[in-house]
Amino acid sequence: MITQDTGVGGLPRLTIRNDLAEAEVYLLGATVTHWKPRDHAPVLWTGPADLYQAGKPIRGGIPLCLPWFGPHADPTKPAHGFVRTRPWTVERTADLPDGRSRVKLSFTTDAETRAIWPHDLRVGLTVTVGRTLDLELTITNTGSETVLIGEALHTYFAVEDIRRTIVHGLAGTLYVDKVAGGRHRQCGDGIAFTGETDRVYLSAHDDCTIDDEVGGRRIHVKKSGSGATVVWNPWIAKSAKMADFGADQWMKMVCVESANALDSVYALPPAFSHHLRCEISVEGG
Ligand code: BG6
Repeated sequence: MITQDTGVGGLPRLTIRNDLAEAEVYLLGATVTHWKPRDHAPVLWTGPADLYQAGKPIRGGIPLCLPWFGPHADPTKPAHGFVRTRPWTVERTADLPDGRSRVKLSFTTDAETRAIWPHDLRVGLTVTVGRTLDLELTITNTGSETVLIGEALHTYFAVEDIRRTIVHGLAGTLYVDKVAGGRHRQCGDGIAFTGETDRVYLSAHDDCTIDDEVGGRRIHVKKSGSGATVVWNPWIAKSAKMADFGADQWMKMVCVESANALDSVYALPPAFSHHLRCEISVEGG
C-alpha cells in the first residue's frame, strides 16, 4: 500500500508498506529516508527528523547529488547540486504483482535552476520497495548542448558501531583522500574506520558490502552506471559542527555512495539519457 501523507516539518511524503518491507520517500529532493525489509532493522540512517525543512537537504537517507558532486568551483553554488533541495513530483505509484511496491518521481529544471546552472534536464527516480531496495536515477538532457554530469545516490547506511564496521569491495582501487588534501592512495583489503574518512574511489564499478560486526549484519550495494564510490564518515569533530547531525550519531552511520565524480563525470549529449542503478540488500540483523 502506498499513501501520500505529511511527514515531519509538514513536508509531503510517500509511505510504502507491503508484506516484504516498508519505506518512506520525501518529495523534498526525492529523498528515501527509510527502508526496512520485514524482520530486519532499518537499513538507512537519518539525522534528527525535526530539522527537515523545505529548501534544505535532508540529512540522512538517500539524498541525490546532481548535476555535480561535492562543492562547485563557484562557492556561491550549492554543494552537491540543487536537486536535493527541490520539491519533486510523484509520477506513478504501483503495488506490483510480486508483492513489491514502486514509486516514480520526477524533477524538471526551471527558471530558478537555470539561474544556477544554465542547462535543462529531466530527472526521474524510480524506487522499488521489497526484500531489496532498488533505485534507478534516470537523467535526460532536454537542452540543446552537451552537459557534464556528476551525481551520487548519497546513501547513509545505519551501522551499530562505525569503529567495528568494514567496507569490502574496493581492494586495489585508487582513491582521492579528501581528508589528506586530495592525495591519491590505493585501497587495501577492506576499509576500517579510525577517524574522519572522506574518499572518492576512482574507476570503482564493483559492488560493495558493509560488514557491521556489532549489528551482526551485512549490507550489500550492487550498482551499475556508476564509476565512483564515495565513502564518508565525518567522525567526532566534524559531525559536532553540523547542526543537523545529532550527538554521537557519527558512530551509527557510514555513507557508501554510488556516484559519478571526478574522473567518472560524464558528458550527456542532447536527447540522451543516463541510468544509475543501485540494489541494496541486507543479511542478518
Ligand atoms: C560527502 C562528501 O559525499 O558528503 C563530503 O564527500 C561531504 O565531503 C558530505 O562533507 C556531506 O555533504 P553535505 O553537503 O550534505 O554536508
